[in-house]
Amino acid sequence: MSRKFIVGGNWKMNGSKSQIGEIIEFLKKGPLNAETEVVVGVPAIYLEHARSNLPETIKVAAQNCYKVPKGAFTGEISPAMIADVGCDWVILGHSERRHVFGESDELIGDKVKHALESGLNVIACIGEKLEEREAGKTEEVVYRQTKAVADKINDWSKVVLAYEPVWAIGTGKTATPAQAQEVHQSLRKWIAENISADVAAKVRIQYGGSVTASNCKELASQGDIDGFLVGGASLKPEFVNIVNAKC
Ligand code: G3H
Repeated sequence: MSRKFIVGGNWKMNGSKSQIGEIIEFLKKGPLNAETEVVVGVPAIYLEHARSNLPETIKVAAQNCYKVPKGAFTGEISPAMIADVGCDWVILGHSERRHVFGESDELIGDKVKHALESGLNVIACIGEKLEEREAGKTEEVVYRQTKAVADKINDWSKVVLAYEPVWAIGTGKTATPAQAQEVHQSLRKWIAENISADVAAKVRIQYGGSVTASNCKELASQGDIDGFLVGGASLKPEFVNIVNAKC
């Protein structure tokens, strides 16, 4: 089963029109491997600006959305609004949403469901905290987080999972290729046993956590790593090298 490599750049709460202009320039200059799907996760206020200025081949994702189409939810945006400004992806369940803003597994499942119903593609993030890894609970945590999504949806064709160990995010402590592959492989096995063999074979699982131009090739060579979700390095020209990790 060949799964198209997919690299996401999650800009988080970074950027200005001027900095986004610089990022767009290095993305346009590339060259970017045409065999790799590229998605950039943009702060909500800049979604339309990024969409209008990036080549169509680069997809644009919001970094969050709410679980209903509209209403009295001050500060939130809906999948319908994301689609209305021309974007077709959303990142949900990022560890910062879970651990800084207290989002529950259940809320994230509801958000994924509603985003899919609204026609968006979803990058659904999962991953264990350091104390959970040290307590030997990595698999238990990522299975629980994946189940919370699986309980709410049937069609996985527009979902990408991003395995991002929390201890590796923004810390410079990347999971080793073997550590990442071990979790991706066991997650795929869990999906085969608990969702379906077809979904397990087709669903793409990105790795995220301190991915850089220098560690991406070895990570990309692992059989169950189908791409990356990149934070800090997605703001820099080295993101082009990460997109091209399979070249
Ligand atoms: O969404 C991206 C992840 O949080 C990884 O961030 O590459 O800065 O460690 P990082």
